[in-house]
Amino acid sequence: MQGTNSLVIVGAQWGDEGKGKVIDYLASEADLVARFQGGDNAGHTVVYGANIFKLHHIPSGILSPGCTSLLGSGMVINPLVLLDELAELEKRDISTANLRISSKAHLIMAYHQVYDRVNEELLGDNKIGTTGRGIGPAYADKALRRGLRAVDLADVDVFRERLAQVLPLQNRLLQSAYGHEGYDLEQLVEIYRPAAEKLGPMVVDTSRLLSESLAEGKKVLFEGAQGALLDIDHGTYPFVTSSSTVAAAAGSGSGLGPQCAGRVLGVIKAYTTRVGEGPFPTEEKSEAGDLLRDQGGEYGTTTGRPRRCGWFDSVIARYAARINGLTGLAVTKLDVLSGLETVNLAVAYECGGSTTKDFPTGMEVLQQCKPVYEIFPGWYEDISRARTLGELPEAARQYLEAMEETTGVPVEMVSVGPDRTQTIVKPGTYLAGWCGD
Ligand code: IMP
Repeated sequence: MQGTNSLVIVGAQWGDEGKGKVIDYLASEADLVARFQGGDNAGHTVVYGANIFKLHHIPSGILSPGCTSLLGSGMVINPLVLLDELAELEKRDISTANLRISSKAHLIMAYHQVYDRVNEELLGDNKIGTTGRGIGPAYADKALRRGLRAVDLADVDVFRERLAQVLPLQNRLLQSAYGHEGYDLEQLVEIYRPAAEKLGPMVVDTSRLLSESLAEGKKVLFEGAQGALLDIDHGTYPFVTSSSTVAAAAGSGSGLGPQCAGRVLGVIKAYTTRVGEGPFPTEEKSEAGDLLRDQGGEYGTTTGRPRRCGWFDSVIARYAARINGLTGLAVTKLDVLSGLETVNLAVAYECGGSTTKDFPTGMEVLQQCKPVYEIFPGWYEDISRARTLGELPEAARQYLEAMEETTGVPVEMVSVGPDRTQTIVKPGTYLAGWCGD
């Protein structure tokens, strides 16, 4: 049956939950890893022994020999950035022979980055705080039916032809509204030619490849980028990204039906962070926030921006569980909380004189919500060497249990450090089975 061997991994907060490490860990047991949305706005830091890899498009499965990595049709790809990513991996002797790109994935072009930057400038104080990678404009052009796709890039002549169709309009926009001189067709073709030559042979029908692999009983991981609260429909709009980041997009962003999502693992930090603008009820602008940022190394992989930090918010987590259909949680960065006398966990919001456990849909309401905290005893022990739940201090276990109770989703994995080995998988869970335990 489709789905039995498949696991969708999504972020359950505002991105940066540590999905890269979790995917890297589980990919060693997978035959295929497929990214299904987003572009190089994502940044996965994977620590592998003495090596640190920063990946933007490429699934961390690329580090597992024998695992095929796919860039799915729901993605937007910057060919020039992807080229650099490939070069970086190859320089460090990581084979990229197993990378496949969906023919239907859209391309982020140079002009998309111009639009992104100028849009943000013009929004002034109301800016989204985007990564500046051209993500929104690339998805907008896709919806406007004037985007270029990977299949176009695979053949330079087709690429030139498609570009010639859309460039007059793009240049007119750039010149009249964006204060940019525009682009010359032949110059653009030459800029993208090396990408076309390198990436062209990797462009295939990934939907068919995935479907056949699932039918053969292969193990497939679907890799989400960003997080639930950045979803274009269900996130904190307009402070969101421009794609569907929830688990249901694994099907549509890969060319498969919804049954492809066998199980859905929500990756969630033991506290909360956010980059960019927008409401964040448990944000700590005080010492506690600084401490989480310093201890957690909370600086963006893609932009280097300091992340906003705050306490774990179970209202958000429960909402993420609902909109994704989460079947399990992978709690990351639990070790960062070591050394705190007490740890706060938001169990509800107080808003307009009443208390609610429901995540509000309107941003104006969310702006006014104040978290209601339950305060837990902290722990001082260094937990980075714990490899079983039993090796964690009682207070840390109690905190994990509170996460399960407040979200209604079982914790299947706990990460206590950035390295692959610093991982606890709960025995008897689906993930334990996935890992062959
Ligand atoms: P965009 O995706 O670059 O358009 O940015 C839109 C919003 O999503 C901004 O708040 C970004 O900071 C945020 N964002 C995009 N990608 C990521 C990510 O991978 N992690 C965390 N935040 C992200």
